[in-house]
Amino acid sequence: MRKLMYLVLVLALVLGLGGQAFAQTYVVGTSADFPPFEYIEDGEFVGFDMDLMRAIADEMDFEIEFRDISFDSLIPGLRTGTIDIVIAAMTITEERKQAVSFSDPYYVANQSVIVKEGLDRDLTVLFGDNRIGAQTGTTGDLWVTERLYDQGILTGQVVRYETFDLAIEDLVNENVEALVLDRPVAERFVEDRPLILVGEIITHEEYGIAVDRGNEELLQKLNEGLQRVIDSGRMGELIDKYFR
Ligand code: ARG
Repeated sequence: MRKLMYLVLVLALVLGLGGQAFAQTYVVGTSADFPPFEYIEDGEFVGFDMDLMRAIADEMDFEIEFRDISFDSLIPGLRTGTIDIVIAAMTITEERKQAVSFSDPYYVANQSVIVKEGLDRDLTVLFGDNRIGAQTGTTGDLWVTERLYDQGILTGQVVRYETFDLAIEDLVNENVEALVLDRPVAERFVEDRPLILVGEIITHEEYGIAVDRGNEELLQKLNEGLQRVIDSGRMGELIDKYFR
């Protein structure tokens, strides 16, 4: 009897530890300045992307650990291996695909323009001698740089910010005349600040989850997990939670 109890105890221990050791942990990088996709509330990572990533990890039986990193350091982080996965409302672009591999798209968004309220500004703020802000390395930054600045349409300055917290602060304080950023996020920022949305730029950007280029095994897990999250109805719930 005693022997049997020992055996059961040892077995439970081995299985328990084994179970833990086998659950892979991936480090997930994000830039937590982008509500409702990723932001920090009471010290916790919250938002649509954060919940989506947790749901995928749940489905595929792996553990995750989030890291907050500036947006333009996310791809370098994947390349050097300090992080394994990036989920950051990141648009799938041809240029980024040279360095990283993207999951199937999980969200579509356009760019938009926001200004300070009450200054009688509109979309024409993008033309001429103004200061237009964007987050460094984002598609908004690229659009302003390539389509406006390099063409001589914007003759003022492109002001680049590491995080959106700083960009929004500068807009409210009138240190820049406008910001260009993804529309769902712009909508969130103007809700409770003296800012307004004055235009949408139809860029039809698809967001994807990124891994280092060629990490097919992990990419497969993410795509399978994403599909399961969609099929189970969990995706619909997340959309309702964050966008309705
Ligand atoms: N969708 C845009 C891009 O890929 C902006 C993403 C910014 N994300 C963030 N978490 N700050 O460039």
